[in-house]
Amino acid sequence: MTLPPTLPAYERAALEILPPDVAAFLFGGAGAEATMRDNLAALERVRLVPRAFATPVPTEITLFGDTYSAPILVAPIGYQRLFHPDGERATARAAAAMGLGYVVPTLSSVPMETLADAAERAPQWFQLYLQPDFEDTVALVRRAEAAGTRAIVVTADAPVDGVRDRQIEAGFRLPDHVRAVHLDRQALPTAHSPHRAQATGWSALKRLRAETHLPLVAKGILHVEDAMQAAQAGCDGVIVSNHGGRVLDGTIAALDALPAIVAAVGGRVQVLFDSGIRRGGDVAKALQLGARAVLVGRPAMAGLAVAGERGAAHILRMLCDEYRIAAALIGNQTR
Ligand code: FNR
Repeated sequence: MTLPPTLPAYERAALEILPPDVAAFLFGGAGAEATMRDNLAALERVRLVPRAFATPVPTEITLFGDTYSAPILVAPIGYQRLFHPDGERATARAAAAMGLGYVVPTLSSVPMETLADAAERAPQWFQLYLQPDFEDTVALVRRAEAAGTRAIVVTADAPVDGVRDRQIEAGFRLPDHVRAVHLDRQALPTAHSPHRAQATGWSALKRLRAETHLPLVAKGILHVEDAMQAAQAGCDGVIVSNHGGRVLDGTIAALDALPAIVAAVGGRVQVLFDSGIRRGGDVAKALQLGARAVLVGRPAMAGLAVAGERGAAHILRMLCDEYRIAAALIGNQTR
C-alpha cells in the first residue's frame, strides 16, 4: 500500500478509511468545534523568524531523566482499537521506533503491560484518570509502576465528558469489541455520570504525590492559578491543553494560555503543550512560546487508522523531519 505523502493527506485518507461514526469520534470536538478550530488558528497566527545560514541543530530532549529524539510525544488517546485492530500496540511501537515519548491512556484498549513489552521497554508515561475511589486510583498507579512507567500524567480537564455534536449526529457508540481494559471492573464515564471524581481532584493529587516517587504531570491546564496550584501540589510538570477542544467549546485556544503559564511556573516545572499540533513548524512555534515539548493526538491516530504501526511511524517521522528543518532554520528552541 502506498502511504499518503504528506501530513494533511493522512487526515484525508483517515476520513475516507474510517467508518463515519468513528471518524466523527476522532476528528470531532465539543459543541460547534469553535475551540478546536481556534487551536489551529492560534498556531497559524504565530510567526517564526528564521536565521541566516542555518545548520542542523540537535533536537534531542531530556525529560524526567530520559532522552528522546525530538520534543514530541504521542498524546494519550482512549480506545485506539477503534481506529485499527492493533490499537495502542501500533502507536506505542511507532513512538519507540522513532525515539519519541508515548503516553499510555487509562482508557487504553490494550493492557499497559503489553504496550511496555511491545515497545521493548522504551520509556512510556501513564495517563491517569482519577477514580471515584482513591484506592482504585492508587491501584492503577501501582500497576503502571510495575509496568515500568516513567511518569504519571493526571488529566485534570475532563471530569465529565464533553458533548460532541459531530459524534452524536454520526450516532457513535463504542462497539462491544473495544473496551477500556484497565477499568474492567469499573463504570465507564458518560456525560451524566461524572466518575472522574473532580471533587477530590487537588487533594487526590496531593495524596498521590505522597504515594509515588514517579514524576507527576497535570494535563489540561489553562489557568495560571491552576498551574501554580499544580506546582504547589508537587507536580513536576503541567501540560497546557484543552483536550484538543473536545471537552468544552468556547474555551481559550490552548496556545494562547501557554505564555502566561510558562512565565508563572516555567522555572519550577516542565511546561508541555498540546491541542492543535499538525506540522513540525507548529512544534517550533510552541517551543518558541516556552513549551519544552509537545504532544500530538489526532495526527498520530490518522497514521494508525491508515496503516497501523507503519502509518503511525510514518506520520511521526514526517512531523520530526519537519520539526528538525524548522529548528535548523530558526535555531534550536529546545532547552
Ligand atoms: C483524546 N484525549 C485524551 N486525553 C486524555 O487525557 N485521556 C484520554 O483518554 C483521551 N482520549 C482522547 C480521545 C480522542 C479520540 C482524542 C482526539 C483525544 C486528548 C489528547 O490526549 C490530547 O490532549 C489532544 O488530542 C491534543 O489535541 P490534538 O493533537 O488532537 O489536536
